Amino acid sequence: MSDTDTPAILVIGGAGYIGSHTTLALAAAGYRTVVYDNFSTGHRDVCFGDALVEGDLHDRKKLAQTMRDHDIQAVVHFAALIEAGESVVDPLPFFENNVAGTLKLLGAMQDAGVGRLVFSSTAACYGNQSTGDLLDENLPRDPVNPYGHSKAMVEVVLETLAAAHGLNAIALRYFNASGADPEGRTGERHDPETHLIPLVIDAARGKRANIKIFGTDYDTDDGTCIRDYIHVNDLASGHVAAIDYLLKHNEVGFQAMNLGTGRGNSVREVIDAVRKMAGKDFPVVEEARREGDPAILVADAGRANEILGWQARYSNIDGIVRDAWNFAVKTDQ
Ligand SMILES: NC(=O)c1ccc[n+]([C@@H]2O[C@H](COP(=O)([O-])OP(=O)(O)OC[C@H]3O[C@@H](n4cnc5c(N)ncnc54)[C@H](O)[C@@H]3O)[C@@H](O)[C@H]2O)c1
Repeated sequence: MSDTDTPAILVIGGAGYIGSHTTLALAAAGYRTVVYDNFSTGHRDVCFGDALVEGDLHDRKKLAQTMRDHDIQAVVHFAALIEAGESVVDPLPFFENNVAGTLKLLGAMQDAGVGRLVFSSTAACYGNQSTGDLLDENLPRDPVNPYGHSKAMVEVVLETLAAAHGLNAIALRYFNASGADPEGRTGERHDPETHLIPLVIDAARGKRANIKIFGTDYDTDDGTCIRDYIHVNDLASGHVAAIDYLLKHNEVGFQAMNLGTGRGNSVREVIDAVRKMAGKDFPVVEEARREGDPAILVADAGRANEILGWQARYSNIDGIVRDAWNFAVKTDQ
């Protein structure tokens, strides 16, 4: 690394969906970036860091050495197993990777004297508390699946370390990450894919037989569930804002902040947006509700707006679907 005046950020899980977009955004904001990833679910062709280190979250020594080698000022931590349904069937790997792995990272940060962290948390921390009101960070953590528990547990650890050792940590609780880089450099490529928008796009492109709606009798205008879809570029700019904030303020402690838009779209609205983009119809199958799906999950994004000065700018459903569609077509997924 030549330019030592430019703060260097370690992006753990930078080969993944949200990490790759965030690496691009950090670079555009003038940061040096080092991507650290084990490629368990990430992709080598979307590592945009100034440097790449192949390594595992559990490797405390390698993490600390990487931080020292690159004079890391702050860490953004995306690496996790993310599939909530799978976490119910086989929880242990979720606690091993998401919790035990993060403890190694926190140890490495102590070893290397790095005291700033942005952590990928999730709306799953709220569980099923939604009453239709916007979800704000004053609600207690009440996850309903092992994935959500793994994230909530890390938040508790961060809160504890902030109080004990002065760690400065911001946990960003994402709502429904969606869309793709408008320039098509990266996008959503989970395998298996379980997120609604790529699945509807697959149905529209004939890559799957149909799209299923789980529950059409919810207490919402069209009977289907409402979620807060946030464009991945807005998530990326939220991380840049959190890093800017951590570098400017010394006593942040632990703070949890929602990244969402404060507006929701129903499943039928998402399907309509894809239908419009595709210019054709495709089979939609109505099924019974799935257990544990709340009717409405929408963020109160006031805290991130106020403290970080962050605003969602790309997050309207037509723009999200357009960018996701273009990426799917370009990569012919
Ligand atoms: N996608 C969403 O809608 C969403 C919503 C809320 C929260 N999140 C959180 O955001 C983060 C990123 O999600 P994503 O959708 O980009 O997932 P992703 O699977 O695309 O990216 C995760 C990245 O972390 C890497 N990784 C995983 N375990 C690792 C380990 N032990 N060591 C090193 N690297 C490892 C993977 O190879 C991958 O590159 C996750 O922590 C997830 O829980 C995602």
